[in-house]
Amino acid sequence: MVYVTRREIFSASHRLFNPNLSEEENNSLFGKCNNPNGHGHNYTLEVTICGEVNPKTGYLIDLKLLKQIIIDNVINKVDHKNLNLDVDFLAGKIPTAENIAIAVWDELENKIPNGKLYSIRLLETENNYIEYKGKNV
Ligand code: NI
Repeated sequence: MVYVTRREIFSASHRLFNPNLSEEENNSLFGKCNNPNGHGHNYTLEVTICGEVNPKTGYLIDLKLLKQIIIDNVINKVDHKNLNLDVDFLAGKIPTAENIAIAVWDELENKIPNGKLYSIRLLETENNYIEYKGKNV
């Protein structure tokens, strides 16, 4: 089994709040992240595929192809966007790094032509990242 990872970056804004909770509860849960006009992050997304090397190509997956799949299905939808308002696959979700990572997994899982999706790692800052490996791990 080999693991191949492609890294992409994007910039986006968000506001963390739960519309079903009061202003006080949102403030206590999310603090500055609940500021009404939002704030931004430079995110790093790492998509890892696992599988066997194809003896004909020596590849698990052509990284140019993996890059294009990530750009078409994720980056073009989130880069320079408001994650609360603009992204179809985040509609109705609180756009925490956890929920973004899970939603990105769901977007990509069935679109990988060789090997299978192993993990989504989303870095929101240099010091914090979330890793998601699917429902059955
Ligand atoms: Ni934030």
